Amino acid sequence: MQDKAVDVAVVGATGAVGNMMIRVLEERSFPVGKLRLLASARSVGKVLSFHGRGIAVEELREDSFAGLQLALFSAGAGVSRKFAPIAAQHGCVVVDNSSAFRMDAQIPLIVPEVNREAIDVSSGIIANPNCSTIQMVVALKPIYDAAGIKRIIVTTFQAVSGTGQKAIEELRRQVKALNSGEQASWQVYPHQIAFNCLPHIGAFLDNGYTEEEMKMVNETRKIFNDERIGVAATTVRVPVYYGHSESVNIETRRPVTVDRVRQLLSSAPGVKLIDEPSEKLYPMPIDCAGQDDTLVGRIRKDPSVENGLCLWVVADNIRKGAATNAVQIAEVLVERGLI
Ligand code: A2P
Repeated sequence: MQDKAVDVAVVGATGAVGNMMIRVLEERSFPVGKLRLLASARSVGKVLSFHGRGIAVEELREDSFAGLQLALFSAGAGVSRKFAPIAAQHGCVVVDNSSAFRMDAQIPLIVPEVNREAIDVSSGIIANPNCSTIQMVVALKPIYDAAGIKRIIVTTFQAVSGTGQKAIEELRRQVKALNSGEQASWQVYPHQIAFNCLPHIGAFLDNGYTEEEMKMVNETRKIFNDERIGVAATTVRVPVYYGHSESVNIETRRPVTVDRVRQLLSSAPGVKLIDEPSEKLYPMPIDCAGQDDTLVGRIRKDPSVENGLCLWVVADNIRKGAATNAVQIAEVLVERGLI
């Protein structure tokens, strides 16, 4: 990494992902010069820590980006739609964690382990994919390269932290209330999330799928640059605080053995293979929290089709699924002298 310091803004710094972006910049010793922490007017007066130093949160405004080289956005799609182009006009490269630009043909959608060659700053904006897509494509990339992928059937078990800080608090409140014999109430989700599973993430679309499910279809094709991949997704919110789990069933284009897949995944970047069922070892969300690796296990043949495989994929949705992936993109920008 070069010595040059990069002046950075984190937009949505008080949120679950924004806060983690600050931690990850710190942990990975990203060469931060000036750091501006931006959020809504509600957060003015808050002070967040970076490398032991207090930094006051400022209100996001149109002139917030002057003189900065990098902005990491995680304040929702509406904020990104309005402010990311303004930041880009100021010459500040945006890595955007929202869904605002992911499917825009002019804007690269990047997971560094999978398609870092597609990084390009000509639009001034790079999109960070949806959390459930990121961990799936990290796990599938070595298999895609070795045997091609024809079709993916995925069911997710997604943590409440993916919805943001207020959802973490809603689950905590409900667990406490129900364990005390009181009624649970809810504002964030359409039903009680404690001790429940909701097969409903994002709005329902005319085709019967949810927005989250269609993100997995469309983003996977864009990241692999392969429109032929068939994807059917069912996305489920579960009462877990941190860590998304996924049951992934694939059909490869060419035969590949389970042993070969284990071998490929054991040396794949960003992947940790945990696959010793006889020792009761397999990935679990309580183990992934705080880690950057995507954990893969339960690899087995699907006997119902010719080239079928089943996998279980777990990752920290706030880290690799959001903050870490964004900072890794920024690291490539620094390495290539693009910021
Ligand atoms: P704030 O804390 O001031 O509301 P989460 O996804 O965890 O709920 O976090 C959302 C983040 O996006 C928070 O930092 C929040 O700031 C920020 N945010 C939401 N709306 C706006 C807005 N209109 N302008 C700037 N930041 C916003």
